[in-house]
Amino acid sequence: MRSIYVTTPIYYVNDKPHIGHAYTSIAADALCRWHRRCGDDVWMLTGTDEHGQKVLRSAALRGISPQAHCDELSEHFRALLRLVQVENDDFIRTTEPRHTSVVQAVLQHLYDRGDIYAADYEGWYSTAAERFWTEKDLIDGKCPDTGQPVEWVTEKNWFFKMGKYADQLRAWIDENPGFLAPASRKSEVVGALRKEIGDLCISRPKERMSWGIELPFDRDYVTYVWFDALLNYLSAVGYHPDPALRSPDFARRWPAAFHLVGKDILATHSIYWSTMLFALGLPPARCLYAHGWWMVEGRKMSKSLGNVVDPTMLVRAYGAEQLRYFLLREIPFGGDGDFSHQAFFNRTNADLANDLGNLAHRALSMSEKWLGGVVPALDADTEADQALGALAAKVGEGFGPLFEAAQFSKALELLWELVSAGNKYIDSQAPWALNKAGQVVRLGGVLRRSLEICRIAAALLAPILPTKAQELADKLGLPENPLQRVGSLDGLIDGAPLRCGDPLFPRLLELPAEVSAALSAALAEAPPEPAPKPKKSPKTTTSAPMSETTAAPAAEAGPAAGPALIEYDDFAKIALRTGLIKEAARHPKADRLLVLTIDLGEAQPRTIVAGLASTYAPEVLVGQTVVVVANLKPIKLRGVESHGMVLAVGGDAGVQALATASAPVAPGTVVR
Ligand code: MSP
Repeated sequence: MRSIYVTTPIYYVNDKPHIGHAYTSIAADALCRWHRRCGDDVWMLTGTDEHGQKVLRSAALRGISPQAHCDELSEHFRALLRLVQVENDDFIRTTEPRHTSVVQAVLQHLYDRGDIYAADYEGWYSTAAERFWTEKDLIDGKCPDTGQPVEWVTEKNWFFKMGKYADQLRAWIDENPGFLAPASRKSEVVGALRKEIGDLCISRPKERMSWGIELPFDRDYVTYVWFDALLNYLSAVGYHPDPALRSPDFARRWPAAFHLVGKDILATHSIYWSTMLFALGLPPARCLYAHGWWMVEGRKMSKSLGNVVDPTMLVRAYGAEQLRYFLLREIPFGGDGDFSHQAFFNRTNADLANDLGNLAHRALSMSEKWLGGVVPALDADTEADQALGALAAKVGEGFGPLFEAAQFSKALELLWELVSAGNKYIDSQAPWALNKAGQVVRLGGVLRRSLEICRIAAALLAPILPTKAQELADKLGLPENPLQRVGSLDGLIDGAPLRCGDPLFPRLLELPAEVSAALSAALAEAPPEPAPKPKKSPKTTTSAPMSETTAAPAAEAGPAAGPALIEYDDFAKIALRTGLIKEAARHPKADRLLVLTIDLGEAQPRTIVAGLASTYAPEVLVGQTVVVVANLKPIKLRGVESHGMVLAVGGDAGVQALATASAPVAPGTVVR
């Protein structure tokens, strides 16, 4: 049995969780669920990072004590885990005594060993940002975060002898090729280690920042938040510097650790954390995996841009499992990606509703209709069957290693080769024709292989779609959803009862109403132009305190003026008609516009350009009946002539829904 200890970063409680936080937790959970299914000894840790300047400032802004603030915010992170179906084994908070006592014991131990010493810290201090900067961080000699003047400050502080362990770390990276992943990010660390590594300032004078763990050997100082936070990976599994005081669980968990972190905190983890471990006489974790960042329309998520994606809303709108699938499938785990509702919508429909959902529904419904609703027997393999079997073997062999290396999107891509092949297999083997011709044995064989692909998908998808995968297994007559025979088209139980029921993933017809409303609200609240942010230096091994971000207030919407009154005759001038959308395509020159071909019951359908692209994918509009202003003078919109206007709900802030007819009506019907 392999021991595997998976950790996420512990999240700052300066604000509510966003999609970036959900991302790492979901990835860690998927990895753990996979290993649990393999029978490994798994432990998943997550939690909240509750000390330091950012948290102190957030509490002060709310006018409550930092502890009360942490208690409340930490709960939001716990609630998010439950919402996205994360089954963590432990949740640590850095304000808990089980953590603070270990941090103090470690500090005392390193101090006694001579690895911590006092010296003067010098640097450019920004009172506005409440942090030090190095010379090269400054922009025009001013604080890069606030643009305010900085002053040269010298103050006594405590330092950890990080530089002493730099060579040991360089050697470790050389000798353990799997330690830093993915390979693309490893080079960043190797590059940083080519330079000299200084010592790390691990204290903050209480007079400047008191929200932290007091140094056991100097009561005027608290511990630097990163030195405190990194130790959570040890404190949570029963570590103590004195071996006699360690929990027996510790040896079970360390060093079999797999730390999942965002790329921005790879430096702190690879350099601060590894050298801290060397100083404690411990080996670093087995693997440090840095994933990329979710952006929104190419920009970093930020409150001031009003583009922070709330995972709670996504779960309500699309479903927790759809969110898990999207996040792990859409971008390779090490790379950056762009979040958009359109991409979410398309991915959910294409992969889950169309490919997998369709395969399951087709195979199950035909088996129910023509074969008595039980698992049919296999027949002798044809060439096509052999090719399908070979693909299943490839998936069975390749999926696990990719998944264990956190290459979730690649693993899913591989599985989808089989799912798509399953749909093509049904098309080419035409079970309906076999049924018509009375070829029952072949019909059974074809449907059995199609059902087997569904079984393989259910087995391999369980770590990502825990509930849906079980639902699929149930439909296939498997009370358990075992991870066996995933490389073979022979794992179902002959004669077991099948249950088709409703489709596994209903097709989304339009963006969920809550999403459309949120998009409109975001449009209304977003500042007209994003405030240019000074370029910030990436987090490096500098010993200066963490940076702070200041949120610009969102532009306020002005009071709405009541609409001016018109005469009935004015209204009667407008010819409103129902129109059936026959075709829809993106406008070649404008992201927000769609070019629609609409049947108004006239000799020729009309071309109408509509600002619907932010809310609707073109393909979901085809077949919908809408209300059209039919007597608007034609107008050219970005080079395409538009002959009318489609009515939609939502005003200037953005479209939330289409104005449509509540019952089927003929194109061209009068609306009044
Ligand atoms: N508290 C530290 C970590 C200490 S671990 C000993 C911290 N917290 S954080 O809340 O700011 O960030 C937590 C994680 O969220 C980081 O891994 C960070 O990379 C990740 N993300 C924050 N925004 C993100 C995206 N937009 N996309 C993906 N992940 C992002 O740093």
